[in-house]
Amino acid sequence: MLIEAHPAAGDHRDRDRSQRPFRVVTVASNKGGVGKTTVATNLAVYLRALHESLPILILGLDEQNTLDRMFALDRATYPHTIATALRTGDLAAAVRLGQYGIHYVPSSPEVTELKREIDDPRHLQRILLATDRSGIVIIDTKADVEILTRNAILASDLTLVLVTDHASLIEAQRIFELLNKWHLPRERARILLSMVDRRIKYRDAESQDVLGLLISEIRSLGYPLFESFLSRSAKVESLLTNPERRAFSILHGAPNSLVGLQMRHLAEDVMAMLTPATTSPSTSAPEAPAGRGWSAA
Ligand SMILES: Nc1ncnc2c1ncn2[C@@H]1O[C@H](COP(=O)(O)OP(=O)(O)OP(=O)(O)O)[C@@H](O)[C@H]1O
Ligand SMILES: [Mg+2]
Repeated sequence: MLIEAHPAAGDHRDRDRSQRPFRVVTVASNKGGVGKTTVATNLAVYLRALHESLPILILGLDEQNTLDRMFALDRATYPHTIATALRTGDLAAAVRLGQYGIHYVPSSPEVTELKREIDDPRHLQRILLATDRSGIVIIDTKADVEILTRNAILASDLTLVLVTDHASLIEAQRIFELLNKWHLPRERARILLSMVDRRIKYRDAESQDVLGLLISEIRSLGYPLFESFLSRSAKVESLLTNPERRAFSILHGAPNSLVGLQMRHLAEDVMAMLTPATTSPSTSAPEAPAGRGWSAA
C-alpha cells in the first residue's frame, strides 16, 4: 500500500537532511523528451569539472541506457544495476567508476518493474542514507510522477523541474503539488527552462519570444525559477548519435558553445543552492571527516 501520510512533513528526519555528508539533486518532469537526461548527465560532468575533488554519483530511474553510454568505461554488462540496488537496498554494490571520474549506477530495463514492488516514497532516501556516500548524487527520472520519481524527489535537496513549453509548465504543477502535500517548501524544487528556441517570436505580444512568455507565466504562478536556462541546439542533439555509439557530454563535444556556457552557469547555480546548508550557522552540519565531506571547498 502506498504510504500517503506526509512522509517528510517537517519531522526530525527532514531536519537530519542537513547532516547528510551528501546532497541529492533530481531532474524531473512529467513530460517526456524535455531534456531531463541531457541535463542530469551534463550537470554531473560540469559539476565535476568545476570541482575536481567533488564526488559525483549519477543514477537513472528509467529503462533507457544513456547514462551507461555516457559514463561506462567498457561495454560489459554488470550483475548489479539500479534495479538490483533498489530491490536489495544495496546501492554500494552497484556503483561503478565511470568517465570523467564520475560514478554511475548501471541502468536496467527492469527498473520499471520496481514500480509494482516499491510502495514507500522513502525507500530510496533510506538506501542513500545507508550508503557510504559523500558529494553529490544526481538522479535522472522517467517522465512521470509515479512512485520511483516520488522516491527521487523526496530524497532530494533540490529537484530541477524541466519546462520547455506550455504543456510541460502545466505538468510542472504536479511536482509542486506533491511538495505541498508533503508539507515541504516549494523551494525544494525549481523550474529550469530547457530546449528554449528563441527563434520563436511573438509580434504583438508583451513577451516577445518564447523565453519571455514562459518566464512571465512562471512568475505569475509563483514557482521558483533558475536564472540559467538552456537553449535548443542542434549540436546537443548530435552528441547522442555518432558512429562510436557513445553519448558525449556537452563539455566534451561543444565546450565553447552557448549551451556549454549555459550548462556551466547552471552547475554554478546548483552548487550555490546546495552549499548554504553547510555554511549557514543555524543549519550547518558538523565538519565532515577529511575527504568525506560533500562540499567542494
Ligand atoms: N538543449 C537541447 N537542444 C537540442 N536538443 C536537445 C537539447 N536537450 C536535449 N535534446 C535532445 O532532445 C531529445 C530528448 O532529450 P532527453 O533524452 O535529454 O530528454 P528526456 O526528458 O530525458 O526524455 P525522456 O522523457 O524520454 O527520458 C534527445 O534527442 C536530446 O539529444
Ligand atoms: Mg530521459
